Amino acid sequence: MTRHITLSRYLIEEQRIRERINADLRLLIEIVSRACIAISVAISKGGLGGVLGEAGSENIQGEAQKKLDVISNEILLEANEWGGHLAAMASEEMELPHAIPNRYPQGEYLLLFDPLDGSSNIDVNISVGTIFSVLRCPEGVDPTSPEAFLQPGTRQLAAGYTVYGPTTLLVLTVGDGVVAFTLDREHGTFVLTQENIRIPEETQEFAINMSNIRHWEPPVRRYVDELLAGKTGARGKDFNMRWVASMVADVHRIMTRGGIFMYPLDAKIMGRGGKLRLMYEANPMSFIVEQAGGAASTGRGRILDIAPVELHQRVPVILGSKNEVERVASYHRQA
Ligand code: AHG
Ligand code: MN
Ligand code: MN
Repeated sequence: MTRHITLSRYLIEEQRIRERINADLRLLIEIVSRACIAISVAISKGGLGGVLGEAGSENIQGEAQKKLDVISNEILLEANEWGGHLAAMASEEMELPHAIPNRYPQGEYLLLFDPLDGSSNIDVNISVGTIFSVLRCPEGVDPTSPEAFLQPGTRQLAAGYTVYGPTTLLVLTVGDGVVAFTLDREHGTFVLTQENIRIPEETQEFAINMSNIRHWEPPVRRYVDELLAGKTGARGKDFNMRWVASMVADVHRIMTRGGIFMYPLDAKIMGRGGKLRLMYEANPMSFIVEQAGGAASTGRGRILDIAPVELHQRVPVILGSKNEVERVASYHRQA
């Protein structure tokens, strides 16, 4: 790419030329991106910064928190309190929405995030990420009540994720396609490195945690059995498998070269409705994937159409190349 376009310039153009966002939403995305740089710095200190290991606490989901889960959550909260662009924030790591302190002005937006995704990978030095989603606070609703956030994914105004991998990448949509920025560490800025990202419709790669095979529902079992049968089976071609166990890393691979990602409903997690969280993981990723020409389904319906009933709701997730997602959904319909 010959043009040098920073995230700031991209956002200014989204505001001024394409009129997709206003100044407050631009500020919001800028601030989130700066928080992600701070998280990237904290992560990269590793054992030298004493940031690895357990925090010794549990989050609302009953999951043991890593130190970096807590640090990343704090970085995002502090960065977003004072700008005047937010009405409230909600995080995977907090039971209730976080109010904007009275000493700061309040804005119209709601910010939701998974501050550190894939945190089980932190201690083994594998890619992790941050996922965020932006909604408008409905009029007349208390922004600090969970109800303010309970909106279907179709209402998202922006969504993005950062992958902290060999490079730190920010992938973003404001409903105008998907773009990716690479962190220029010397200058502390994100620079546009990919425009109009499109997920190929056909694929030969899938991502699922195979250790759950005995718990899967018949439609998922049928689909994966066909993939595993390879050239001599119903699909007539060989498929390859990858599973990083960081949703950001697995989804980013699909954004780059196609494929299907599944964390379906299974007997083990049936009571919880799924593994991944609708508001912090499934919705933002589904928005990004759809904006890149892919599809995202629970197997029973489009993820973005779900009317949420609970802030920390979990859902089955099947997303990626359109034809593959549609095939899994059709197996659910037939079952
Ligand atoms: P988080 O670290 O935010 O709790 O998310 C972990 C999620 C997701 O990133 C990943 O796809 C999945 O959990 C991995 O689950 P398994 O360990 O069951 O494979
Ligand atoms: Mn996560
Ligand atoms: Mn997380």
